[in-house]
Amino acid sequence: MKNKIGIVGGGQLGKMLTLEAKRLGFTVVILDPTRKSPAAQVSDYQLVADFKNEKAIKRLAELTDYITFEIELANADILNEISKLGAKVNPSAKTLNIIKDRLKQKEFLVKNNIPVAPFRNVNNRENILESAKKLGYPILLKARLDAYDGRGNVLIKDEKEIDDALEKLVDRELFLEGFVSFKKELAVMIARSSKGEIAVYPVVETVHKNSICHTVFAPAPVDTAIQKKAKNLAIKVIKVLKGAGVFGIEMFLTKDNKVLVNEIAPRVHNSGHYSIEACLTSQFEQHIRAITGLPLGRTDMVVSAAVMINILGERHGQSELKGLEKALKLPNVSVHIYGKTETRIERKMGHITAIDSSLKKAYNKALIARKLISI
Ligand SMILES: Nc1ncnc2c1ncn2[C@@H]1O[C@H](COP(=O)(O)OP(=O)(O)O)[C@@H](O)[C@H]1O
Ligand SMILES: [Mg+2]
Repeated sequence: MKNKIGIVGGGQLGKMLTLEAKRLGFTVVILDPTRKSPAAQVSDYQLVADFKNEKAIKRLAELTDYITFEIELANADILNEISKLGAKVNPSAKTLNIIKDRLKQKEFLVKNNIPVAPFRNVNNRENILESAKKLGYPILLKARLDAYDGRGNVLIKDEKEIDDALEKLVDRELFLEGFVSFKKELAVMIARSSKGEIAVYPVVETVHKNSICHTVFAPAPVDTAIQKKAKNLAIKVIKVLKGAGVFGIEMFLTKDNKVLVNEIAPRVHNSGHYSIEACLTSQFEQHIRAITGLPLGRTDMVVSAAVMINILGERHGQSELKGLEKALKLPNVSVHIYGKTETRIERKMGHITAIDSSLKKAYNKALIARKLISI
C-alpha cells in the first residue's frame, strides 16, 4: 500500500500536516535543516538537510510515495526533475516555480485575467522613480523571492525614501507595487484533489500588523455578495494552477468592493488554522486527502464564529512557555504551541483559536488567552 508522505519543510505547517497524516495512518518523513524541527517532533523520520539540497530531495522521493512541501523555498527544479522520474509531487513543481517568484506570479495572474494591484518590474533607483510617477506614492518595494511575513516588503512614502528601501532589500531581485488602500484583507483556502475534486473554505478576514498576520476572523464579516465574489475568484485561481493540494489565496477588498488577489500560497496557510477547530475537515487533513487521492472532506464551519490569534515572539532567546494553564481554563479556547526552541521578535511560535456564538465573543476570549500566554 502507498502510505508514505514526504514533506519538504518542517515548520509549524509541516507539523500540523504531519499530525493529520498520522491520524489517517500515514508514515511521514520530513526534510528540514533544523534537527528536531517542529514537524520532525511528531513525524516518523527527518532528513536533516537544506530545502534545496538535491541529494536529500531525491532521497525523500526514494523513501516515500507522495511528496509535498510547506514552504516556497523548496527546490522547484529538483521537484520537477523527480516528478518527471515518476515521483508524485503535489502541488506541481511547475506551480511552485511560478508562485515562488512573486513577480512571475503577478504576471501569470494578469495573463489569466485575475485582478491584482498594479505593479512594475524594477531593478534600480531610476526605474523606481519612473514607475513611482505612474503608480503614485505610497508604493511598496517587494523582493521577488524568499519573502514571507513581510520580510521582503518595504513601504516607500515619497521619493526621499527610495534609497533606504533599496538598502533594505540590497542584493535581491525586486518589483514595485502600488499601495492598495483596502477596506479589508480577505483570504480563501481552496483544495483540489489529485482526482480533480474542488472544495472551497469559508472566506475569512485577516488582520496584519507590520505585514505579519496577527488575527483571522472566520467567517469574514462581509456580506454574502462579497463572500461569493471572493470564493469565485479563488476558484478561478485554482483552475489556472496545476496540481493537487490546499492553496491559500490572499485578497484585498477595496473601498469600492472590488476583490483583488494579493498573493497565492501553494500550501496550507496561516489564515486556515481556524479550520482545525471550526470546520468539518481542517485544511491540514484536506491537504493530506488531496495529495494522496482520497476524497475531499466537507469544509463547512461547525461553529458560528472562530477567531485565531498568532502567538508571535516578543524577545530573542530560548523559548519558555508560560500561562498555558490559565489560558486553557477559558472554555472553547485551543492553544497550539509549535515547539520552536528559539524565540525571536515576531517569530510565529504558536496560535490560539477561540470559538463562540459570535465573532465579538470569540475575539474577546482569544485576546484574553493571548495576554495570558508568553513564550
Ligand atoms: N500593495 C499593497 N497595498 C497595501 N498593503 C499591502 C500591499 N502588499 C502587501 N501589503 C500588506 O503587507 C502584508 C504582507 O504582504 P505580502 O505581499 O502578502 O507579503 P508576505 O509574503 O510577507 O505575506 C499584506 O498582507 C498587506 O497587509
Ligand atoms: Mg502575504
